[in-house]
Amino acid sequence: MTTPPKAAPAFINQMEPWIDENEVRHMTEYLTSGGWLTEFAKTKEFEGMIAQYTGAKHCVVVANGTVSMSVAYWAWGIGPGDEVLVPDVTMIATPNAVRLVGATPVLVDVEPPTLCMNIALAERALTPRTKAVALVSLNGRAPGMTAWKEFCDAHGLFLMEDAAQSLGSFQGGVHLGRFGAIGSFSFSTPKIITTGQGGALITDDDELAHRMRKIKDFGRERGGTDWHDMMGQNFKFTDVQAVLGIEQMKKLEWRVARKKAMYRRYESALRGIPQVEMLATSDETAPWFADIYVPEPERLRDHLKSRMIGTRLVYPAINKQSIYPTEGSFPVSEDYSSRGLWLPSASSLSDDVIDRVCDEIREFFNSAPRAG
Ligand SMILES: Cc1ncc(COP(=O)(O)O)c(C=O)c1O
Repeated sequence: MTTPPKAAPAFINQMEPWIDENEVRHMTEYLTSGGWLTEFAKTKEFEGMIAQYTGAKHCVVVANGTVSMSVAYWAWGIGPGDEVLVPDVTMIATPNAVRLVGATPVLVDVEPPTLCMNIALAERALTPRTKAVALVSLNGRAPGMTAWKEFCDAHGLFLMEDAAQSLGSFQGGVHLGRFGAIGSFSFSTPKIITTGQGGALITDDDELAHRMRKIKDFGRERGGTDWHDMMGQNFKFTDVQAVLGIEQMKKLEWRVARKKAMYRRYESALRGIPQVEMLATSDETAPWFADIYVPEPERLRDHLKSRMIGTRLVYPAINKQSIYPTEGSFPVSEDYSSRGLWLPSASSLSDDVIDRVCDEIREFFNSAPRAG
C-alpha cells in the first residue's frame, strides 16, 4: 500500500475576505428578486445598520473610503487655498482625498503608542489657511479624542475622522468617527467587514448629511429628477454591495471579539522576543491587522514567506512618497514605518495558525545573528 503524497501546506494569506453561505444565499435571493442593482432599499438598510451600530444620527454610504473623505471636505466647504493637517503615517488615500478637492495636505508627525497625529506638532503646523484636521485612528487606535475635539473647536477647524480601519473600535464607549463632525469608514477587502469596495460617512449634523447625499448623487435632491442646484458627482454605492454588507454587519460583533482575541494571542506569544515591539492597545480597540515592529522587517517577511506565511510591510511614511515631497523632520513616522510588518490577520484564522506564525517568528530571531 502506498501512502498518499502529503498535501503541500496551504499559503497563509496576510488577509483574505470571508464570505460564507449566508452571503451566497442572500445574494442569490437578491439577484433573482428583480432588484435594480443600483442603490435603493438594501443600501438604506445597510446605512441604518451602520448608524445604529456607531450611534450616529446619519450614515451615507459611498463608493469607497477615499472619495468619502473628499465628499466630507466638499460638504464642509474645503477647497483650493485651504490646508488640511494629515498624519505622516497613514494610507495614501488620506492626503489624496485632500488633493482631490484642490486643498493642500500638510503632514504632521505621529506619536506612540497609537501612531496617530501628534497634537503638539499639529498646533505648530497651524497657519491662517488651516481649515481641517484629518485625524486617522490607525489600526483602530485613537489618540485622546476629547483633546482633539477641543483643539479643533478652539481653532475653528473641521475635525474629519478617517476611521477607515476603525469599525468596531471605541473610546470611552463612543464609537470612533463620532468625535469629529464627520467620520469616514472603508469596506475594501482587508477591512473588518467588506463589500469589495465601499465607504461610509457618519454624522449627527442634518445639514451635512443632506449635502453629502446630494454631492454623491450628481448634486440633485433625489434620484429620478435631473435638476441640479449644487455641484455633485457620482460616488454612489450599489444594492448588490449592500446585500453583502448587511450580512457582514450581522457578524460584526463576533469579528470585533475575534480581532481583539487574535491581537492578544499574538501579543502574549511574542512578548518574550526582545526584537519584537507591539504597541499598547486598549480593550476598546479591534485592530484590523496585528502589527509588529522589528529590525529589518523585509528579512522577517522573506523568512515567513519561505514558510508559506504571508505578511505585508506597513505603509511607508507619506513624506517618503515621491508625490509628497516634504521639508521637515518626521522621526517617529520614519522610524515606525521602516520597522512595521502586518502579520496574518483574517478573522477566519485559527488559533493554531497564529501559534505557528509566532513559532516561526521566534525561530527566526533565535537563529538570526545578533546585530552589532
Ligand atoms: C486609513 C485609511 N484611509 C483611507 C483608506 C481608503 O479606503 P478605500 O480603499 O476604501 O478607498 C484606507 C484603506 O485602506 C485606509 O486604511
